[in-house]
Amino acid sequence: MKTAIFGTRPYDRAFLEQANGRGTQQLEFHEARLTATTASLAAGSAAVCVFVNDVLDAATLAALARLGVRLAALRCSGYSAVDVPAARKLGITVCRVPTYSPAAVAEHAIALILALDRKIHRAHNRIREGNFALDGLLGFNLSGKTVGILGTGGIGTAMAHILAGFGCTVIATDPLPNPELVAAGVRYVPREELFRQSHIVTLHCPLTPATRHVVDAAMLALARPGFMLVNTGRGALVDTRAAIDALKTGQLGNFALDVYEGEEGLFFEDHSGQVLQDDVFARLLTFPNVLITGHQAFLTTEALTVIANTTIANLDAFEQTGRPLHQV
Ligand code: NAI
Repeated sequence: MKTAIFGTRPYDRAFLEQANGRGTQQLEFHEARLTATTASLAAGSAAVCVFVNDVLDAATLAALARLGVRLAALRCSGYSAVDVPAARKLGITVCRVPTYSPAAVAEHAIALILALDRKIHRAHNRIREGNFALDGLLGFNLSGKTVGILGTGGIGTAMAHILAGFGCTVIATDPLPNPELVAAGVRYVPREELFRQSHIVTLHCPLTPATRHVVDAAMLALARPGFMLVNTGRGALVDTRAAIDALKTGQLGNFALDVYEGEEGLFFEDHSGQVLQDDVFARLLTFPNVLITGHQAFLTTEALTVIANTTIANLDAFEQTGRPLHQV
Protein backbone atom coordinates (compact mmCIF):
# COMPACT_ATOMS: atom_id res chain seq x y z
CA MET A 1 0.00 0.00 0.00
CA LYS A 2 1.33 3.44 -0.88
CA THR A 3 1.61 5.95 1.99
CA ALA A 4 2.62 9.61 1.78
CA ILE A 5 4.72 10.45 4.84
CA PHE A 6 4.43 14.17 5.71
CA GLY A 7 6.77 16.31 7.80
CA THR A 8 9.62 13.86 7.21
CA ARG A 9 12.88 14.54 9.02
CA PRO A 10 16.00 12.40 8.39
CA TYR A 11 15.41 10.44 11.62
CA ASP A 12 11.77 9.64 10.60
CA ARG A 13 12.95 8.25 7.30
CA ALA A 14 15.77 6.19 8.83
CA PHE A 15 13.54 4.54 11.47
CA LEU A 16 10.54 3.98 9.15
CA GLU A 17 12.73 2.43 6.43
CA GLN A 18 14.27 0.15 9.02
CA ALA A 19 10.83 -0.90 10.32
CA ASN A 20 9.70 -1.54 6.74
CA GLY A 21 12.72 -3.78 6.18
CA ARG A 22 10.64 -6.48 4.46
CA GLY A 23 9.29 -3.83 2.10
CA THR A 24 5.62 -4.59 2.79
CA GLN A 25 4.74 -0.92 2.50
CA GLN A 26 5.49 1.60 -0.25
CA LEU A 27 6.58 4.75 1.57
CA GLU A 28 6.83 8.13 -0.14
CA PHE A 29 8.62 10.74 1.97
CA HIS A 30 7.78 14.46 1.89
CA GLU A 31 9.41 17.18 3.99
CA ALA A 32 6.33 19.42 3.81
CA ARG A 33 3.86 19.57 6.67
CA LEU A 34 0.40 18.31 5.76
CA THR A 35 -2.04 21.19 5.20
CA ALA A 36 -4.98 21.68 2.83
CA THR A 37 -2.45 23.12 0.34
CA THR A 38 0.13 20.32 0.54
CA ALA A 39 -2.50 17.54 0.63
CA SER A 40 -2.11 17.14 -3.16
CA LEU A 41 1.27 15.43 -2.50
CA ALA A 42 -0.79 12.43 -1.37
CA ALA A 43 -2.19 11.88 -4.89
CA GLY A 44 -2.03 8.15 -5.66
CA SER A 45 -1.58 7.17 -1.98
CA ALA A 46 -4.11 5.15 0.03
CA ALA A 47 -2.75 6.52 3.31
CA VAL A 48 -1.00 9.51 4.81
CA CYS A 49 1.33 9.38 7.79
CA VAL A 50 1.60 12.53 9.91
CA PHE A 51 3.14 13.94 13.09
CA VAL A 52 1.99 16.30 15.84
CA ASN A 53 1.99 19.60 13.94
CA ASP A 54 0.51 18.40 10.66
CA VAL A 55 -3.00 19.73 10.07
CA LEU A 56 -5.86 17.25 9.85
CA ASP A 57 -8.79 19.70 9.94
CA ALA A 58 -12.00 19.25 7.95
CA ALA A 59 -10.65 21.07 4.86
CA THR A 60 -7.45 18.99 4.71
CA LEU A 61 -9.36 15.76 5.30
CA ALA A 62 -11.81 16.66 2.51
CA ALA A 63 -8.89 17.30 0.14
CA LEU A 64 -7.39 13.92 1.10
CA ALA A 65 -10.74 12.13 0.63
CA ARG A 66 -11.06 13.61 -2.88
CA LEU A 67 -7.65 12.06 -3.68
CA GLY A 68 -8.86 8.65 -2.47
CA VAL A 69 -6.92 8.58 0.82
CA ARG A 70 -8.57 6.14 3.26
CA LEU A 71 -6.21 6.10 6.24
CA ALA A 72 -4.49 8.80 8.31
CA ALA A 73 -1.77 7.16 10.40
CA LEU A 74 -0.47 9.39 13.18
CA ARG A 75 3.08 8.61 14.27
CA CYS A 76 2.33 10.09 17.70
CA SER A 77 -0.13 9.41 20.53
CA GLY A 78 -2.04 12.71 20.90
CA TYR A 79 -4.74 13.37 18.31
CA SER A 80 -6.15 16.73 19.47
CA ALA A 81 -5.22 18.25 16.07
CA VAL A 82 -7.42 15.77 14.15
CA ASP A 83 -11.06 16.48 13.34
CA VAL A 84 -12.08 12.87 14.04
CA PRO A 85 -15.84 13.32 13.34
CA ALA A 86 -15.01 14.91 9.96
CA ALA A 87 -12.67 12.01 9.14
CA ARG A 88 -15.42 9.52 10.03
CA LYS A 89 -17.93 11.29 7.79
CA LEU A 90 -15.43 11.27 4.91
CA GLY A 91 -14.64 7.57 5.39
CA ILE A 92 -11.04 8.19 6.46
CA THR A 93 -9.87 5.88 9.25
CA VAL A 94 -7.54 7.48 11.80
CA CYS A 95 -4.96 5.51 13.77
CA ARG A 96 -2.11 6.39 16.10
CA VAL A 97 0.77 5.07 18.18
CA PRO A 98 -0.95 4.99 21.58
CA THR A 99 2.16 4.53 23.65
CA TYR A 100 5.77 4.34 22.62
CA SER A 101 8.12 5.23 25.41
CA PRO A 102 6.81 6.87 28.56
CA ALA A 103 10.39 6.78 29.86
CA ALA A 104 11.63 8.94 26.96
CA VAL A 105 9.27 11.80 27.81
CA ALA A 106 9.56 11.42 31.59
CA GLU A 107 13.35 11.39 31.44
CA HIS A 108 13.32 14.55 29.31
CA ALA A 109 11.04 16.27 31.83
CA ILE A 110 13.50 15.30 34.57
CA ALA A 111 16.38 16.64 32.45
CA LEU A 112 14.52 19.97 32.13
CA ILE A 113 13.84 20.14 35.88
CA LEU A 114 17.46 19.45 36.84
CA ALA A 115 18.94 21.71 34.16
CA LEU A 116 16.67 24.62 35.07
CA ASP A 117 17.03 24.15 38.83
CA ARG A 118 20.84 23.84 38.75
CA LYS A 119 21.14 26.35 35.85
CA ILE A 120 23.18 23.96 33.72
CA HIS A 121 22.37 25.91 30.52
CA ARG A 122 23.79 29.11 32.02
CA ALA A 123 26.79 27.38 33.59
CA HIS A 124 27.65 25.74 30.25
CA ASN A 125 27.71 29.11 28.48
CA ARG A 126 29.73 30.75 31.26
CA ILE A 127 32.42 28.07 31.31
CA ARG A 128 32.84 28.34 27.53
CA GLU A 129 33.58 32.04 28.01
CA GLY A 130 36.10 31.38 30.75
CA ASN A 131 33.74 32.63 33.48
CA PHE A 132 33.94 30.31 36.47
CA ALA A 133 32.02 32.57 38.91
CA LEU A 134 29.11 30.84 40.66
CA ASP A 135 26.99 33.94 41.40
CA GLY A 136 23.47 33.50 40.06
CA LEU A 137 23.73 29.71 39.81
CA LEU A 138 22.11 28.90 43.17
CA GLY A 139 19.74 25.94 42.92
CA PHE A 140 17.64 23.86 45.30
CA ASN A 141 17.68 20.17 46.32
CA LEU A 142 15.05 18.02 44.64
CA SER A 143 15.16 15.73 47.65
CA GLY A 144 12.38 16.62 50.09
CA LYS A 145 10.43 18.76 47.61
CA THR A 146 6.77 18.18 46.77
CA VAL A 147 6.16 17.52 43.08
CA GLY A 148 2.65 17.58 41.62
CA ILE A 149 1.90 15.44 38.58
CA LEU A 150 -1.14 16.42 36.53
CA GLY A 151 -2.12 13.26 34.65
CA THR A 152 -0.76 9.89 35.81
CA GLY A 153 -1.07 7.82 32.64
CA GLY A 154 2.01 6.19 31.12
CA ILE A 155 4.29 9.23 31.30
CA GLY A 156 3.00 10.62 34.61
CA THR A 157 3.47 7.19 36.22
CA ALA A 158 7.06 6.96 34.93
CA MET A 159 7.64 10.46 36.34
CA ALA A 160 6.27 9.45 39.75
CA HIS A 161 8.68 6.52 39.99
CA ILE A 162 11.72 8.60 38.99
CA LEU A 163 10.80 11.43 41.38
CA ALA A 164 10.32 8.99 44.26
CA GLY A 165 13.93 7.91 43.64
CA PHE A 166 15.03 11.52 44.13
CA GLY A 167 13.35 11.58 47.54
CA CYS A 168 10.47 13.82 46.46
CA THR A 169 6.97 13.74 47.93
CA VAL A 170 4.77 12.99 44.91
CA ILE A 171 1.16 14.15 44.74
CA ALA A 172 -1.09 13.82 41.71
CA THR A 173 -4.36 14.77 40.06
CA ASP A 174 -6.13 12.46 37.61
CA PRO A 175 -9.80 11.56 37.15
CA LEU A 176 -8.63 7.93 37.03
CA PRO A 177 -6.13 7.42 39.88
CA ASN A 178 -3.54 4.72 39.30
CA PRO A 179 -3.81 2.14 42.16
CA GLU A 180 -0.18 1.13 41.64
CA LEU A 181 0.89 4.69 42.48
CA VAL A 182 -1.48 4.91 45.45
CA ALA A 183 0.14 1.72 46.79
CA ALA A 184 3.55 3.33 46.24
CA GLY A 185 2.54 6.28 48.44
CA VAL A 186 1.41 8.83 45.86
CA ARG A 187 -1.44 10.95 47.23
CA TYR A 188 -4.21 12.07 44.81
CA VAL A 189 -5.52 15.58 45.52
CA PRO A 190 -7.85 18.02 43.73
CA ARG A 191 -6.14 20.14 41.06
CA GLU A 192 -6.18 23.37 43.11
CA GLU A 193 -4.57 21.57 46.03
CA LEU A 194 -1.89 20.19 43.71
CA PHE A 195 -0.91 23.72 42.67
CA ARG A 196 -1.09 25.06 46.26
CA GLN A 197 1.23 22.39 47.68
CA SER A 198 3.75 21.70 44.93
CA HIS A 199 7.24 23.17 44.57
CA ILE A 200 7.18 21.74 41.04
CA VAL A 201 4.11 21.00 38.88
CA THR A 202 4.61 18.80 35.82
CA LEU A 203 1.90 18.38 33.15
CA HIS A 204 1.18 14.95 31.65
CA CYS A 205 -2.52 15.02 30.77
CA PRO A 206 -3.81 15.13 27.18
CA LEU A 207 -5.01 18.37 25.60
CA THR A 208 -8.82 18.32 25.54
CA PRO A 209 -11.45 21.08 25.78
CA ALA A 210 -11.39 20.46 29.57
CA THR A 211 -7.61 20.84 29.89
CA ARG A 212 -7.05 23.73 27.46
CA HIS A 213 -5.34 26.51 29.52
CA VAL A 214 -5.69 24.37 32.64
CA VAL A 215 -2.78 26.50 33.86
CA ASP A 216 -4.35 29.96 33.60
CA ALA A 217 -3.97 33.21 35.57
CA ALA A 218 -6.22 31.93 38.40
CA MET A 219 -4.33 28.64 38.78
CA LEU A 220 -0.96 30.42 38.64
CA ALA A 221 -2.14 32.84 41.35
CA LEU A 222 -3.09 30.11 43.81
CA ALA A 223 0.11 28.10 43.25
CA ARG A 224 2.95 28.04 45.76
CA PRO A 225 4.89 31.30 45.25
CA GLY A 226 8.04 30.82 43.15
CA PHE A 227 7.04 27.32 41.99
CA MET A 228 8.45 25.58 38.92
CA LEU A 229 6.13 24.64 36.04
CA VAL A 230 7.15 21.92 33.57
CA ASN A 231 5.19 21.33 30.38
CA THR A 232 6.05 18.38 28.17
CA GLY A 233 2.35 17.65 27.47
CA ARG A 234 0.86 20.03 24.92
CA GLY A 235 1.49 23.77 24.59
CA ALA A 236 -2.11 24.88 25.04
CA LEU A 237 -2.33 23.30 28.50
CA VAL A 238 -0.72 26.60 29.60
CA ASP A 239 -1.98 30.14 28.97
CA THR A 240 1.45 31.41 27.93
CA ARG A 241 0.59 35.11 28.36
CA ALA A 242 -0.56 34.42 31.93
CA ALA A 243 2.65 32.47 32.54
CA ILE A 244 4.70 35.44 31.32
CA ASP A 245 2.83 37.77 33.72
CA ALA A 246 3.50 35.34 36.58
CA LEU A 247 7.19 35.11 35.63
CA LYS A 248 7.43 38.92 35.74
CA THR A 249 6.10 39.04 39.32
CA GLY A 250 8.12 36.02 40.45
CA GLN A 251 4.96 34.05 41.32
CA LEU A 252 6.17 31.56 38.69
CA GLY A 253 9.80 30.99 39.67
CA ASN A 254 10.89 28.70 36.83
CA PHE A 255 9.22 27.53 33.62
CA ALA A 256 10.48 24.61 31.54
CA LEU A 257 8.70 23.75 28.35
CA ASP A 258 9.09 21.28 25.50
CA VAL A 259 5.78 22.28 23.90
CA TYR A 260 4.32 25.70 23.11
CA GLU A 261 0.80 26.70 22.10
CA GLY A 262 2.08 28.49 18.97
CA GLU A 263 4.60 25.82 18.00
CA GLU A 264 3.00 24.88 14.65
CA GLY A 265 5.15 26.28 11.87
CA LEU A 266 7.91 27.14 14.37
CA PHE A 267 9.14 23.89 15.89
CA PHE A 268 10.88 21.14 13.90
CA GLU A 269 12.26 23.71 11.37
CA ASP A 270 15.47 25.75 11.13
CA HIS A 271 14.39 29.42 11.32
CA SER A 272 17.83 30.69 12.39
CA GLY A 273 18.14 33.11 9.45
CA GLN A 274 14.70 34.65 9.90
CA VAL A 275 13.11 37.33 12.07
CA LEU A 276 11.02 35.73 14.82
CA GLN A 277 7.43 36.85 14.33
CA ASP A 278 5.92 35.40 17.51
CA ASP A 279 6.22 38.13 20.19
CA VAL A 280 4.96 35.88 22.99
CA PHE A 281 7.62 33.27 22.24
CA ALA A 282 10.21 36.05 21.88
CA ARG A 283 9.32 37.33 25.38
CA LEU A 284 9.73 33.81 26.81
CA LEU A 285 13.25 33.70 25.38
CA THR A 286 14.25 36.76 27.45
CA PHE A 287 13.78 35.13 30.87
CA PRO A 288 16.85 33.61 32.56
CA ASN A 289 14.52 31.22 34.43
CA VAL A 290 12.79 29.79 31.33
CA LEU A 291 14.22 26.74 29.58
CA ILE A 292 12.79 25.67 26.23
CA THR A 293 13.31 22.62 24.05
CA GLY A 294 11.49 22.25 20.72
CA HIS A 295 9.21 19.22 21.23
CA GLN A 296 12.07 16.76 21.51
CA ALA A 297 10.99 14.80 24.59
CA PHE A 298 10.07 11.80 22.39
CA LEU A 299 13.38 11.83 20.53
CA THR A 300 15.19 8.72 21.71
CA THR A 301 16.31 5.69 19.72
CA GLU A 302 13.97 3.48 21.73
CA ALA A 303 10.91 5.70 21.20
CA LEU A 304 11.54 6.19 17.46
CA THR A 305 11.93 2.41 17.04
CA VAL A 306 8.53 1.74 18.66
CA ILE A 307 6.88 4.61 16.72
CA ALA A 308 8.17 3.27 13.39
CA ASN A 309 7.34 -0.40 14.14
CA THR A 310 3.81 0.45 15.33
CA THR A 311 3.20 2.71 12.32
CA ILE A 312 4.21 -0.02 9.86
CA ALA A 313 2.08 -2.54 11.84
CA ASN A 314 -0.90 -0.12 11.59
CA LEU A 315 -0.41 0.18 7.82
CA ASP A 316 0.00 -3.61 7.37
CA ALA A 317 -3.15 -4.35 9.42
CA PHE A 318 -5.21 -1.75 7.55
CA GLU A 319 -4.09 -3.14 4.20
CA GLN A 320 -4.84 -6.73 5.20
CA THR A 321 -8.04 -6.35 7.26
CA GLY A 322 -9.35 -2.83 6.67
CA ARG A 323 -8.69 -2.04 10.34
CA PRO A 324 -5.43 -0.60 11.73
CA LEU A 325 -4.14 -1.99 15.03
CA HIS A 326 -4.70 1.23 16.96
CA GLN A 327 -7.76 3.01 15.57
CA VAL A 328 -8.72 6.37 17.09
P1 NAI B 1 -1.96 8.60 28.83
O1 NAI B 1 -3.21 8.57 28.01
O2 NAI B 1 -1.27 7.33 29.20
O3 NAI B 1 -2.23 9.42 30.19
C1 NAI B 1 -2.93 10.61 30.25
C2 NAI B 1 -3.51 10.68 31.66
O4 NAI B 1 -4.11 11.99 31.82
C3 NAI B 1 -4.62 9.66 31.93
O5 NAI B 1 -4.33 8.96 33.13
C4 NAI B 1 -5.88 10.50 32.06
O6 NAI B 1 -6.83 9.95 32.96
C5 NAI B 1 -5.30 11.81 32.57
N1 NAI B 1 -6.19 12.96 32.41
C6 NAI B 1 -7.15 13.17 31.48
N2 NAI B 1 -7.77 14.34 31.72
C7 NAI B 1 -7.21 14.86 32.83
C8 NAI B 1 -7.43 16.05 33.58
N3 NAI B 1 -8.38 16.92 33.23
N4 NAI B 1 -6.65 16.26 34.67
C9 NAI B 1 -5.70 15.38 35.04
N5 NAI B 1 -5.45 14.24 34.38
C10 NAI B 1 -6.18 13.99 33.27
O7 NAI B 1 -0.95 9.57 28.01
P2 NAI B 1 0.63 9.62 28.10
O8 NAI B 1 1.22 8.63 27.15
O9 NAI B 1 1.06 9.57 29.52
O10 NAI B 1 0.91 11.08 27.49
C11 NAI B 1 0.45 12.25 28.15
C12 NAI B 1 0.56 13.42 27.19
O11 NAI B 1 1.94 13.69 26.93
C13 NAI B 1 -0.03 13.14 25.79
O12 NAI B 1 -1.42 13.41 25.74
C14 NAI B 1 0.73 14.10 24.92
O13 NAI B 1 0.02 15.31 24.85
C15 NAI B 1 2.04 14.33 25.67
N6 NAI B 1 3.21 13.80 24.96
C16 NAI B 1 4.25 14.65 24.69
C17 NAI B 1 5.39 14.20 24.03
C18 NAI B 1 6.55 15.10 23.75
O14 NAI B 1 7.43 14.72 22.95
N7 NAI B 1 6.66 16.26 24.37
C19 NAI B 1 5.48 12.81 23.56
C20 NAI B 1 4.34 11.98 23.96
C21 NAI B 1 3.25 12.48 24.60
